Amino acid sequence: MMLRDLDDDALRSAAPLKWALDGPDVLPAWVAEMDFPVAEPVQHAVTAAAATGVLGYPPPAETLGLPDAFAGFARRHWDWPVDTGRVTVLGSVMAGMALALRQLAEAGPVVVPTPVYPPFLATVTDTGHALRAVPLLERAGRYRLDLAAIARELADGARTVLLCHPHNPVGRAWSAEELAELRDVVEPAGARVITDEIHAPLTHPGTAFVPYAQVASSDAPVTTLTAATKAFNMPGLPCALLVSQLREDHARLQRLPPVLTHGATGLGMAAATAAYRDGDRWLAAVRERVAGNLALLQERLADRLPAVRMAPAEATYLAWLDVRELGLAAPARTALERGRVRLEQQDFGPGSAGHVRVNVGTSPVRVEQIAERLVRAWG
Ligand SMILES: Cc1ncc(COP(=O)(O)O)c(C=O)c1O
Repeated sequence: MMLRDLDDDALRSAAPLKWALDGPDVLPAWVAEMDFPVAEPVQHAVTAAAATGVLGYPPPAETLGLPDAFAGFARRHWDWPVDTGRVTVLGSVMAGMALALRQLAEAGPVVVPTPVYPPFLATVTDTGHALRAVPLLERAGRYRLDLAAIARELADGARTVLLCHPHNPVGRAWSAEELAELRDVVEPAGARVITDEIHAPLTHPGTAFVPYAQVASSDAPVTTLTAATKAFNMPGLPCALLVSQLREDHARLQRLPPVLTHGATGLGMAAATAAYRDGDRWLAAVRERVAGNLALLQERLADRLPAVRMAPAEATYLAWLDVRELGLAAPARTALERGRVRLEQQDFGPGSAGHVRVNVGTSPVRVEQIAERLVRAWG
């Protein structure tokens, strides 16, 4: 299946945050959106839903078939038998993370492997928990969880671990072995894992994604968060899912006043249902494309900017570059000022200094242009 690439003008209308922040001479490679139109089944579902008036308060997710559609997707792609009776539908993954931290997590510090998607850090502190950032270990660009440091934090009183799986920004899809090692550290401590698996559908061809819930014990406090919005490129259609491993966690969320769990829209639910049910072919094309684009960027950087090292990614359309050897004080700003390419400028937490994130969810031609502009800025 061919993916359609939108041209720059179309993107300035369709993706105005990513594309219209700067003038037309700046190539955007920052916020996590892709430069493709959404899958046709999603487009049809949204158009039909709008035409029939799903614009009021949303119906229960079951009436649109969302939990079943997600369970089918999880079974086909990851061999994960999701119990639809343990799914809570919410407005966004980050709202789900805040909810889990407020309502399910025990009081006490929260361990966050870093660098990480910056809202994790703000959400931990905003929900009243102490943040225990544990930098990932890195060798030759490949990142691992620092299990010994996580174990030390748990021994010291931390009660929750926030996992980003696959990991934004370093691109790892943690292996079954690594997840089992994490489980063997977390479960004896009786701690909770909240795992954000929003990037899971974007695991590259040739890598198996393993949900943490599949490796964890069935009676362990595990909260899985996910959404179709990232992989299917529709973050403007709020809808996310929270899957509780424990019956009591699900029951607690169901008993909450609706104001604490609302936020999903009817259009978002319709779009997610269509994506999970009928989006496999489009998604396969995206996965091929982004894996190819990451390989292309890696090749160009190795040729033209050998001092820059790119972490090998197994998932996501995000490249994490180690630019410390360039000795730049603000490499993303230099890329914008001298190269006219906008990279993500947020702080990804401890371990992220001297690194930048590049979004390659676009055409190969633009990836070549991104590389050229980085050479101009940093070469
Ligand atoms: C790891 C991760 N979690 C959550 C989100 C945002 O999800 P939501 O808009 O559903 O909160 C993103 C967006 O890029 C992300 O990368």
